[in-house]
Amino acid sequence: MGLPVLSCVIGMIPEKLIERLKRIGLDETIYDSRTKKCVLSREHVDLEKVPWYEHAYFLEENNDGNTKGVSKGSFIFDPVSIVPCLALAPKKEDRILDMCAAPGTKTFILSFLTNNEAKIVANDISRQRVKRLRFNVEKFHLSVDVWNKSGRKIYEKFDRILLDAPCSGEGMVNKSEKLFKHWSEKRVKDLAKKQKRLVKHAYSILNPGGTLVYSTCTFEREENEKVIEFLLEKTDAKLDDINVKINHIPGITDSTKQCMRIYPEHNQTGGFFVAKIMKF
Ligand SMILES: C[S@@+](CC[C@H](N)C(=O)[O-])C[C@H]1O[C@@H](n2cnc3c(N)ncnc32)[C@H](O)[C@@H]1O
Repeated sequence: MGLPVLSCVIGMIPEKLIERLKRIGLDETIYDSRTKKCVLSREHVDLEKVPWYEHAYFLEENNDGNTKGVSKGSFIFDPVSIVPCLALAPKKEDRILDMCAAPGTKTFILSFLTNNEAKIVANDISRQRVKRLRFNVEKFHLSVDVWNKSGRKIYEKFDRILLDAPCSGEGMVNKSEKLFKHWSEKRVKDLAKKQKRLVKHAYSILNPGGTLVYSTCTFEREENEKVIEFLLEKTDAKLDDINVKINHIPGITDSTKQCMRIYPEHNQTGGFFVAKIMKF
């Protein structure tokens, strides 16, 4: 049996991060979690189903996709990534923007949810990461336009926008070593500023009647509820309920209760925050 993850990372977790986790009722044992991976398939696969999406199946540990019914080279990912995509509820008639898309996990899921028939633009600011995004779009024959610019330089209008924002990544328990190296309170602050600018711009290019989903893989209130509160204050945006059956707790401020906080211990996934925003 392998050693628990925490034994590898203990001592590496910045004190300030531990303090901040404590303030929201979490502690460093979240980095002790193991997360499950999944694949998508419309045909039945001989594996356990992911409870929150009928076409997703958990891979067994050490399974690299070589399971009956799972083709080799399948896209393998943390099943929590399905949640913001389901929250967006994309339809094939919609014009959809995945604003911060690289390397393309959620682009892949959005394409799957729309049978590869919707008009999807997958954008990312990073030239390097866009290479990976293009690779995935081509490998999986996704009918997706790839753009490489800042989300804030997009002026076309969309019916559904996913803003899976750049964040401090505290919920990525499997990548904790890398995360701890880059983590700082200043970085959290800088990211929060960036997220506010991005969410406000995303809302401005949403068609009336449209849906915007904001998500991060961090636990920080500044990067989650505070960003949503900012949008609610500055615009006429309204929150909506997220109808995805996954264990979670609600947003932790009064005006963000409709948001979802998903912790590693809830479903054996990475940590995630999701908000569903409507424009009327
Ligand atoms: C959390 S990652 C996205 C993960 C991706 N949605 C997926 O599921 O594979 C955040 C991304 O935001 C990109 N990014 C950062 N600032 C941006 C901006 N101003 N406009 C567009 N993309 C940006 C980063 O390059 C990074 O790829």
